[in-house]
Amino acid sequence: MKINNKNNPITVEQSAALSGVIDTPSDKSISHRALILGSLCIGETKIHNLLLSEDVLSTINALEQFGASINIEEEINTTIVHGFGIGGLLQSERKIHLGNSGTSARLLIGLISSCNVCVAFEGDESLSTRPMGRVLDPLKEIGLEVVSKNTDNLPLEIRGATLPVPINHKLRVPSAQIKSALMLSALNIRGTSTIIESSKTRDHTEKLFEYFGADIETRMNIEGDKEIRVNGQRKLSPRELDIPGDPSSAAFFIVAALITKGSNLRINNIMINPTRSKFIDYLISMGAKINFINEYSKCGEDISDIEVCTSSLKGIKTEVKDAPSMIDEFLILSVAAAYAKGESRFCGVAELKVKESNRFDVIINMLNASGVNCKADGDDLIIIGSGEVRGGTTIKTDYDHRVAMSALILGLGAKNKICVDDISPIATSFPNFMEIYEKIGGKFYGG
Ligand code: S3P
Repeated sequence: MKINNKNNPITVEQSAALSGVIDTPSDKSISHRALILGSLCIGETKIHNLLLSEDVLSTINALEQFGASINIEEEINTTIVHGFGIGGLLQSERKIHLGNSGTSARLLIGLISSCNVCVAFEGDESLSTRPMGRVLDPLKEIGLEVVSKNTDNLPLEIRGATLPVPINHKLRVPSAQIKSALMLSALNIRGTSTIIESSKTRDHTEKLFEYFGADIETRMNIEGDKEIRVNGQRKLSPRELDIPGDPSSAAFFIVAALITKGSNLRINNIMINPTRSKFIDYLISMGAKINFINEYSKCGEDISDIEVCTSSLKGIKTEVKDAPSMIDEFLILSVAAAYAKGESRFCGVAELKVKESNRFDVIINMLNASGVNCKADGDDLIIIGSGEVRGGTTIKTDYDHRVAMSALILGLGAKNKICVDDISPIATSFPNFMEIYEKIGGKFYGG
């Protein structure tokens, strides 16, 4: 995998109306999971519209080192996976480089934890600061061993359990990555593993387990928590699947249309899964004019095309319980709040501190530097919008794709230019972002 570490600064200026029809890139979370589950099948899994971003390429590279054969046929947007089967992954002779991808790291740690192999993972500067103890600790209970000196951060060397015991774990952090790591581990553990979550997080792993024929059962227990039971060491069936559009990527252009005067955009193929699309509900409560115009379903997920036009927005208070269902959207929601009139409060968002960058602090710094009053109140963020943004600043991307994209959208409506110091991280999730930005009317120049 090639990682572009070159600094690539871009300056954006206030834009005239945005218009056009755009396609949402494929979902990153589902792309990682489809590849991993395909690798756990014996036979051919055919994935249409896999997201070919740097993060997903990191997962492909790792799975190939574990023995999967993955063939990308770019002209027909189809990826063919021939897997190694449950428990069949090979000892990789080399260190596995995961770039910037936290999802690859956490899911793959889960995958190998119940297999008899020893693996060394490393990542870029940002990934090397992100906490891994949250996934390693519950997996130590099944027999995973951390061999390296580092125990919470990459680079890490870990040895999977020889005789893994079933998992029985209630999530302490509401995280789909931890949940998915434990579920993937459970696939190679004889007996029934139980994973319990009290706050809803994205449910793609549960859906895909069912789609690939895993022995899984989910129910609400008497405490009102979701209980996921997986019976391990059962075969999966190779499948054909088509990846729906990523709501987290669509979010940038939804907000772009809302804040740029006179705009009207049609955005096609957005996955409307309630564990992912909560930010759309909040935008609508802020006054966003968003119409769902063509609803259908694909691979067990509801999809919609939407029409968005410029709207006068008002401040909003987001609830703690909704934070995990929109955790990747707070950056761009902070841009919407900056252009809204009145106070917005994002409640209980401390988890933003351990994303690709410390997004909690980034939101405060980015908005204050652009003339918008924003501060922390404990684990809450408060943004006082006046309907206008001064701009006239440089935003540091800090290896974070979503910081770069949010700052570029912030610049569309700002009175003075906004410079983004490095847009190269955008390739981790949305390789054609700048192409779409330009196509709908966004103005930018290098440097
Ligand atoms: C993801 C889960 C979320 C999200 C990340 C992708 C996933 O992380 O922020 O971008 O694919 O499971 P957490 O599980 O750490 O909240």
